[in-house]
Amino acid sequence: MSERRQFVAPHVAELPKSGIRAFFDIVAQRRDIVSLGVGEPDFDTPWHISRAASIALEEGRTHYTSNLGTPDLRKAICAYLSRRFQATYDWAHETLVTVGVAEAIDLALRAICSPGDEILYHEPCFVSYAPTVRLAHATPVAVETYAKDAFRLTVDALEAKVTPRTKALLVNFPCNPTGATLSVEDMRAIADFCIRHDLVLLADEVYSELVYDGEPVSFASFPDIRDRLILLNGFSKSWAMTGFRLGYACGPAEVIDAMMKIHQYGIMSAPTLSQFAGVEAMENGDADVARMRAEYKRRRDYLVPALNAMGLATVMPKGAFYIFSDIRASGLSSQDFALRLLNEHAVACVPGAAFGPCGEGFVRMSYATSLPKIKLAVERLAAFMRDLAKR
Ligand SMILES: Cc1ncc(COP(=O)(O)O)c(C=O)c1O
Repeated sequence: MSERRQFVAPHVAELPKSGIRAFFDIVAQRRDIVSLGVGEPDFDTPWHISRAASIALEEGRTHYTSNLGTPDLRKAICAYLSRRFQATYDWAHETLVTVGVAEAIDLALRAICSPGDEILYHEPCFVSYAPTVRLAHATPVAVETYAKDAFRLTVDALEAKVTPRTKALLVNFPCNPTGATLSVEDMRAIADFCIRHDLVLLADEVYSELVYDGEPVSFASFPDIRDRLILLNGFSKSWAMTGFRLGYACGPAEVIDAMMKIHQYGIMSAPTLSQFAGVEAMENGDADVARMRAEYKRRRDYLVPALNAMGLATVMPKGAFYIFSDIRASGLSSQDFALRLLNEHAVACVPGAAFGPCGEGFVRMSYATSLPKIKLAVERLAAFMRDLAKR
């Protein structure tokens, strides 16, 4: 066989695989496991939303749509943002429908990044942020957040990391994996920081409907950052629509246009049937979101005190459907804790280190699973903690 050169580009070869996957592979092989590992709703998509896709299928709506997404969906998204967040976006020029928020993040970064640009983001965070920045040929710069601050992102921490090369700040609140939210004052300070340093603000608000104490707030409600904000949101979490692969970006027309070019060449258009479902979710989905939110809150309110009672210090998260528990008292690394919990007590959670180095010492547990299963997981966790205390 002839010698051949390395085909995979070095910046791709160097990317680590997601730390979450390895755990899911083990979980998938065993039936006795209670999983607090998943990052997707356990609810089925509300029936009337799925039905909108079925009807579209029966009507033969199986063609491409406009690259930007159907006008009906873009109008429905803008009406929703105005109704929920008092945000005004032009459906025709400032809105792009994407394949989940995952694609919207990728497009936004590729549209704004040049080699040498630095992108600030907070850790622990969604596993895709640093890799997606690298794939856009820019440099990810992590800003650590801490349990003592309830994992809020502070401007002091941002000021310590900003440089003349910083192009953008990527934020995600309510946050995966910590469940942290920001107060309006925190958001104002972050918006001012972006204005002061002339940065783009990428706001991944995919969990924006899932806040349990007070009303949701969006960066899109701040008029003076409109010209530098790229709002990223979607249907996966709040409407339980992960498999529909539907999201969107709203922002300044020239940035949306740039993102559309990349989307046009790489994707063409978001799935057509999903777009019909998306209109139904935007226009008639509020009651479903409220029902699921109430159930997540019930689970959170059971789980967090139960964990604290067994010695797993856990900040009460205000949003999303994750808790980030401090396991340092166990003396185990987050990887060992999660592996032993899985192997010895059949409960799956995700090691905090999967979400960045400052997630070490913590594990992420998702309460997007039924209360009876959460109760069983708590019994098993308590047994695990008793075992650890004996040794
Ligand atoms: C913070 C965050 N952003 C984006 C995504 C991707 O969402 P989507 O299914 O819309 O691509 C996820 C999924 O877990 C997430 O947690």
